[in-house]
Amino acid sequence: MRSKGSKGRPEIERDNLLDYERVYSTFQWSRVEEEMGLTPDESWNIAVAAVDRHAAGQHGHKVALRFYDGRTEGKLTYLQLKLLTNRFANVLRSLGVRPLERVALFLPACPEFYVSFLGTVKGGAVAVPLSTSFMADALTELLRDSEAAVLVTTAALVDRVHREQLPDLRRVVIVGTGPAAGAAEPAPDPGDVAYDRAMAGAADTDAAARADRETPMLLLYTSGSTGKPKGVIHVHGGITHYYQTAGHVLDLRGQDTYWCTGEPTWVAGISYGIWAPLLRGVTSIVYCGDFSTDKWYEVLSKFRVNVWYTTPTALRRLMHSGPAKPAQGHSLKELRHILTVGEPLNPFVIRWSREAFGLQVHDTWWMTETGGIIIANFPCLPIKPGSMGRPVPGVHAAVIDEGGRELPPLEMGQLAIMAGWPAMMRGIWRDEEKHREYFRLPPWYLTGDLAYRDGDGYFWFQGRVDDVIKKDGKRIGPFEVENKLVEHPAVLEAGVIGKPDPLWGESIKAFVVLHPDHPWSAALEADLQSFIERRLGSHLVPREIEPCQALPRTRSGKLMRRVLKALELGLPGGDLTNQA
Ligand code: WTA
Repeated sequence: MRSKGSKGRPEIERDNLLDYERVYSTFQWSRVEEEMGLTPDESWNIAVAAVDRHAAGQHGHKVALRFYDGRTEGKLTYLQLKLLTNRFANVLRSLGVRPLERVALFLPACPEFYVSFLGTVKGGAVAVPLSTSFMADALTELLRDSEAAVLVTTAALVDRVHREQLPDLRRVVIVGTGPAAGAAEPAPDPGDVAYDRAMAGAADTDAAARADRETPMLLLYTSGSTGKPKGVIHVHGGITHYYQTAGHVLDLRGQDTYWCTGEPTWVAGISYGIWAPLLRGVTSIVYCGDFSTDKWYEVLSKFRVNVWYTTPTALRRLMHSGPAKPAQGHSLKELRHILTVGEPLNPFVIRWSREAFGLQVHDTWWMTETGGIIIANFPCLPIKPGSMGRPVPGVHAAVIDEGGRELPPLEMGQLAIMAGWPAMMRGIWRDEEKHREYFRLPPWYLTGDLAYRDGDGYFWFQGRVDDVIKKDGKRIGPFEVENKLVEHPAVLEAGVIGKPDPLWGESIKAFVVLHPDHPWSAALEADLQSFIERRLGSHLVPREIEPCQALPRTRSGKLMRRVLKALELGLPGGDLTNQA
C-alpha cells in the first residue's frame, strides 16, 4: 500500500515494509545481523559497514555525500570517503590517540566534519560532536566534561576554546587555511596541527579498529531539566537499528537521494544524517548554508530529493512563506516520502503538506537516548494526524503507571520502551546514577514523555514529565540558562520556562529576582540577553525576561517551574502538594 497523495509517482523499487502487522509479529534483530553479514566474532565497526563496505563494491564511485552551501557544490564518493577516513584515523593514531579516547568535533557541517567524524569512529576513538552555536562557556564545559584528548575545529572557531581550563586536551587540529575573512589572525599555538598537512602526510590504508557490539563510538551531549548537559554514550551495535529503520521507516531505496536537515551535532543528523543513509549506500545531501525558504526549495528540487527527513518547525517556517516554490526549471515530483522528528507534528502541517507536495508528512518519535527511531508512521499504514504512530518492528513500547504496570488504551501515563533495542544508549558519561534512573522500573526504559495509546496501537504524545524546553525541535535545559543568568551581577535568582510558540514550538522565558542595587530596565534586559548570547549561544537566549519579587519554591527549596508556567499561561496554579 502507498501513502495517500503519492499516487501517480513511479514505483522504483517496492516499498520496504508492506505488511506492518506481519513483520512486527515475526521480526527478529538477529535476522538483520544475518542480512548485514554481521557475525559475533567479526568486527562491528560501524564506520567500516557504512563506508568501506560500499567502497569495495559496485558503489565505490557512487556519491555518498553531496555538499551544497547555497552557492558551491562538492561531493565525496564512497571510495573517497573510505580513503579520507582512513587517513584521518591514521592522523589520530600519529597524534597518540588511543582507542576509546574522546575526539571533539567543533565544526560546521563541512566535508571535514564528516571525514573526521567517520575517521574517529573507524579508528576506534569516540566522537564528540559539538554544535557551533555554542559560545565559549558552554563549549568549554562540554570539552572539559568529555575529557577530549583532541579537538578538531577551524581557525575562526578556536578562539571560543578556553584551553587553560582543559587539562586533558592534548592537541587541536585546525581545518582550513586561515581565519574567516575579517577575523583577527589567532595567535598560533605551536602544538596545533593543520588538518590539510596532517591528512596529506597520513597513509590511506589499514585504519579500522576492531569493535564489537558494545564498543562506544559516540558521546553526545543533550539537556535535561536538572543539572548540566548529560553525555549519552552510543555503541557500534546500533548498526542494525539504523540500517533497519532506514528501510522500514525512511523507506530508503538503492537509487534514492536523501536529505536529512538535522545538523550532524544533533542525534537526528547523526543516526539518520550519517549512519542510516550510508549503511544503505544511498546519496545524501548536506546543505550547509543558513535556512531560507528559497534555498530549501532549491535543494529539494535541484538535487531531486526523494526522501526528506526534517522537523515540524522547518515545515511551519516553509508553510508561513506561502506555496511551495521549486527552483527554476525544476519540480518537486521526485519527492516520495517526508518525515519529521523532534516535536509534535501539528495536523495542520500535515494538511498543508498534502497541498504543497501532494504528500503526507510521517511523524517519528525517538530521543537522543534511544539512538534510533522507536515510534513512527509507516508508509504502509494510515496516518492519524496528531499521532506519533506505532512502534517500529523489534521494539515494544507501552504507556505505564508509576509502578511500571502497562496501562490500558486511552489512559495517560509515561511512555516506556522495553530495554534492549540495538541503538539504546549504553551509559551516561561519568554519571552511572543518572543512567540507572532511566531504567529504574525494569524491564522499562523511562522516556520522561507522557502519552497514551489508542485502541489501534497508535501513540499520542501529551507532553513531558519534566521541564525540558523544546525550541526548534532542540532540547533546552532550563537549568543551564538559569545557572548562567545568576552569574550576572544583577541577578540573585532565575527561573526559566518554555512558552508555547506557533512557529518554534516553544520560546524561552526567564523570571529573575534582581539584586536590590540593580533596578529593572529595558537596558538591563538587553544586557542579560547579550550576556547569555555571548557565553552560551544565541539559541539559549530568553526571548522575554521578567523581574519578580520571589520564585515559587518547595519547602526544600526546589524551584517549581510548573507553577511559573501555570502563572504565565493563566492556567490553574498547579498542584503544590507533593512538592517537598
Ligand atoms: C520530543 C530528538 C512529540 C520528546 C530525536 C522526546 C517528540 C524529545 C517527537 C527527544 C514527536 C521527539 N512528537 N515529541 N514526534 N519526537 N519528541 O533528544 O519530548 O533532541 O523526549 O531527540 O523530543 O529530543 P532529542
